[in-house]
Amino acid sequence: MKELIRKLCDVYGPSGQEEAVRDLIRAEIADVVDEMRVDALGNLIAVKRPTQGGEGKQTRVMLAAHMDEIGVMVSHVDANGFLRVSTVGGVLANAILGTQALFADGTRGVFGSEGEMIVRDKPDLHKIFLDVGASSKEELSVGVGDQAVFRSEFIDQGKRLFAPNFDDRIGCAVLIQTLRELKETPNEIIAVFTVQEEVGLRGAATAGFGVEPDVVIALDVTAAGDIPEVKVSPSALGQGPAIKVKDVRMIAHPGVRRWLVRTAEAYEIPHQLEILELGSTDAAAVQISRAGVRAGTISIPSRYVHQPSQMVDYDDVQNCVRLLVNALGGPIQQF
Ligand code: CO
Ligand code: ZN
Repeated sequence: MKELIRKLCDVYGPSGQEEAVRDLIRAEIADVVDEMRVDALGNLIAVKRPTQGGEGKQTRVMLAAHMDEIGVMVSHVDANGFLRVSTVGGVLANAILGTQALFADGTRGVFGSEGEMIVRDKPDLHKIFLDVGASSKEELSVGVGDQAVFRSEFIDQGKRLFAPNFDDRIGCAVLIQTLRELKETPNEIIAVFTVQEEVGLRGAATAGFGVEPDVVIALDVTAAGDIPEVKVSPSALGQGPAIKVKDVRMIAHPGVRRWLVRTAEAYEIPHQLEILELGSTDAAAVQISRAGVRAGTISIPSRYVHQPSQMVDYDDVQNCVRLLVNALGGPIQQF
C-alpha cells in the first residue's frame, strides 16, 4: 500500500483544483467499482453494487475522503517579483516560514517574512510572502489566482511515514484500498472522493445531497498529541484507527460508533475513540443534508496536521482498511 500512498502524496491538488488527484484515483479504482461519475463541483462518485442479494439487508453506505490539500493563492505581485498570498484552508503562519511551496506548473517558492532576514518572533500571516527566486515581475510564470501547496518529500521510514499532505491523501489511500479488498458485500458502497473540504466541507455537502445515503463515514486524519509535554492527547500514533465520538461540528451517531467499535472488537483490530477540539470532517456536512444522515468518521492519527511534514503510523493505516472491510462486508443491523 505504500506505493499507492506515495503516488497520492506526490500529486498536486489544492482546494478547487483537484483534477490531477481525481485522474489518479479514477485510474486506480477503475477495475474495482461498477460505475463512476463526476458532479458539478468536481467530486468523484464511485459505486460498488451489492455482490449478494438478501432481502432488506442492503444499506447505502457513503464513504468520503477529500482530495484537496491546504495551500495559498497569489493575490498580488510586486515589481520585484515577490508574491503576496491569500490562504486556502487552515494555514498556520508559524509552520510555513522557510518551507517550500509548489505551483501547478512545477514552480517552487520559499515562504519569507517582511522586514526580517531571520524570523525570531511569531510571524504575522499578513507579512508573509512567497519568493520564487525571480528578480522582476516580468520573469514570473505564475501570477494572481495561481495556487501553491506545501511541498516536502514523501518519506517511508518503515513503520512511520512522512508527507506534507496526509490530510487527506491518506484517507484517499484507505478508501481505494478498501474498495480493492472488499470482495463481497450485501451493501451498496458509494465511495466519494470530495473536493474543497479544507474551505468548509463544500464538496461533501453537494455529494451527500446527491447520493442520499443511509449512513456516511468520513475517512480523514485527526491530530495526534503523543509528543512531549502535551497533557491531554486526543489520539496517539500506533494505537489504531480512531473512531469519532465528537469534534467541533459533529457528534457521531451512537449507532454508527457502536457498529464500528463492535466490528473492531470482533476482529481484534486495535482502535481508539476520538474527541477532537479543532476541526471537523466531511461527515459533518452530510449528517445535516436532506432530512439527516446517520454519520460517523474513522480517523488516522497524524502528528503535525496542517504543517508541511505530517507523520502517520503505517499499522494504523492498514488497521483502518481492515476495520472498514470487515464493517462493510456483512449486513449492517445495529442502527
Ligand atoms: Co485538513
Ligand atoms: Zn482533512
